[in-house]
Amino acid sequence: MPKRAKISIIGAGNVGATCAHWAAQKELGDIVLLDIPDRVGVAQGKMLDLACCGPIDRFDGALTGTADYKDIAHSDVVVVTAGLPRKPGMSRDDLIETNVKIVKSVSENIKEYAPDSIVIVVSNPLDAMVYTAWKATGFPTSRIMGQAGALDVARFRTFIAWEIGCSVEDVSALLLGGHGDDMVPLARCTSVHGIPVTDLLTDEQITACVERAKAGGGEVVKLMGTSAYYAPALGTIQMVEAIVKDKKRIIPSAVYLDGQFGHKGLFVGVPALLGKDGVEQVVEFKLTDAEQKLFDESASHVEDLVGVVTKMFPELA
Ligand code: NAI
Ligand code: 2OP
Repeated sequence: MPKRAKISIIGAGNVGATCAHWAAQKELGDIVLLDIPDRVGVAQGKMLDLACCGPIDRFDGALTGTADYKDIAHSDVVVVTAGLPRKPGMSRDDLIETNVKIVKSVSENIKEYAPDSIVIVVSNPLDAMVYTAWKATGFPTSRIMGQAGALDVARFRTFIAWEIGCSVEDVSALLLGGHGDDMVPLARCTSVHGIPVTDLLTDEQITACVERAKAGGGEVVKLMGTSAYYAPALGTIQMVEAIVKDKKRIIPSAVYLDGQFGHKGLFVGVPALLGKDGVEQVVEFKLTDAEQKLFDESASHVEDLVGVVTKMFPELA
């Protein structure tokens, strides 16, 4: 019998529990949801509740809530959602001081208890937290990545589809850069079944969609007082699915650049081919001068955030 995949999710809050929900519903494997000891009841309660959806939605798989890192042993994929979310008025970068400590300690546990896993970081500020997890685990760069592009592209596709008045399914799009307000949605790579969006919408309409996608996280925070979790979690599970099913999907993800797109030594959002070995390829293509300039600015912001991390923890340099 083929072995079921094992997916561990660290942080049983809004994003973590919603990741568990989507992964269970898609029957991607056995799932462990881990939180700090004070919140073990929350992790256990959510997984018990979710397990009882199995008979209704017809999915199987072991669902475990825990605070014990021994339970993540032999995970194929570990998703890191531990950390504070934004409150209204905060940027993702304001979370760095608290979240770098959390992500560092979580990553050290992943290194000890699930040394062969592939890690997907979700905690913010995303690109700097991916770097932190890389340094703290010492894993090869193919086994460390961050979720942001899957979400940001989904937001961009949604707003474009609403503007055209067509199904969101028919819009395909691409976006590069860090998970910040300087992310780079690429209008020229956005189409409806290959029809360039520039033939369907005016420049003003496209710019409005770009701006709304960039600020999409903040728009949700303003409305509900904490950050989004349905789309962030589903974007993350899209990546998990690509890995556990070895689908070789090309998903914009925060991955290590080793010279591609003109940058080296940095995790930043670019199209990446995801399969059973994690990041199997960075899909590089030629940017226009204007796109390269925007990408460079976004990467330089990520570099500044990594500088804050290494200032706090020189051992992560
Ligand atoms: P939340 O507050 O609902 O949940 C966070 C959970 O992490 C809590 O249950 C908390 O107890 C747990 N936690 C804290 N320290 C821990 C530790 N050392 N070990 C294990 N668990 C720990 O927050 P939410 O909304 O789930 O967001 C989580 C993170 O994801 C935030 O940093 C947020 O900014 C980020 N985020 C990232 C997105 C992305 O696209 N990359 C999108 C949405 C949120
Ligand atoms: C988002 O984009 C806060 O990163 C989170 O919704």
